[in-house]
Amino acid sequence: MRIDILTLFPQMFDGPFSAGIFQRATSQGLVTVNIYNIRHYTHDKHHIVDDSPYGGGAGMVLKPEPIFEAVEAIKEETHPEERLPIILLTPQGQLFSQAVAQRLSQHSHLILICGHYEGVDERVRQHLVTDELSIGDYVLTGGELAAMVVIDAITRLLPRFLGSEDSLKDDSHTNGLLEYPHYTRPAVYRGWSVPEVLLSGNHAQIAKWRREQAIIRTLERRPELLDKSNLSLEERRLVSRLRDKESNMSKDNT
Ligand code: 6GU
Repeated sequence: MRIDILTLFPQMFDGPFSAGIFQRATSQGLVTVNIYNIRHYTHDKHHIVDDSPYGGGAGMVLKPEPIFEAVEAIKEETHPEERLPIILLTPQGQLFSQAVAQRLSQHSHLILICGHYEGVDERVRQHLVTDELSIGDYVLTGGELAAMVVIDAITRLLPRFLGSEDSLKDDSHTNGLLEYPHYTRPAVYRGWSVPEVLLSGNHAQIAKWRREQAIIRTLERRPELLDKSNLSLEERRLVSRLRDKESNMSKDNT
C-alpha cells in the first residue's frame, strides 16, 4: 500500500514512522509512506499557504492552489486507480471507525490531506477530496495526529502486517463487541487467580467463556454497540437476563 500525506508540518511524522511495528512494515515494503510539504507547491517568494477568509472573520484558511497542485503532481507520478481515495482530515468529517479502516485497507493507494487553521478552502472539499474523516468529537490543532491514527488503524489490517491474522479477528470493534479479558502467567498473582476455565484446556468452553465475557464487557461499557452486533438468539437472551439483573439491582439501591 502506498500512502501519501500532504502536510504543513512534515517533521511531525518523523517519530511514528521510525518506531516499532510500523517501522517493520515500512522496511518490509508492505507500506510506503511519502510526506509532501504543501508549502513546496506554492509559487510565490514567501511560500504562502494560507490567507484570510472572504467575508471576514477570525483565523486563516488554507489556499486551494498548493493543495490541488500537490495532489495533481502525485497523480501524474503514479497513474492511480480510478477510485483513489483523497482524504481530508477535518473535525467536520465522517467519524472514523473500524469499518471505515477496513474499507480503506482494500485500496492500494491513499492520499491524506492534513487540514489546519480555520480549515481549507471549500473548493478543495468540493472538487478534489473524495472522503472527509474525523477521529472523534474534539478539536485538534491540525490533521497530522489524526492522519497517524487513521494510518495505524488501516495498515495493521494489511495481510502479513501483524505476523498473524488470528490476532485481528477478536479485536475490539471488529465483530461489534469489545474484546474479552486476557490473562498470562502466573496463574495466581498476589492471590488473584486466573479464571479456572482458561486453564482447563477445553477449547470449546474457553471460546464460549470469551464470547460471553465480550458480551458482558460490551454491555457494561458500550451498551450502544450491542444493537449493531450480530448476537445469536441465545446470546440476546443472555443480554436480556443481564439487563434485568442490572435494573433489579439499581431498584434495590433506591
Ligand atoms: Cl481529522 N482534525 C482536527 N483538526 N481535529 C480533529 C480531527 C481531525 N478529528 C477530530 N478532531
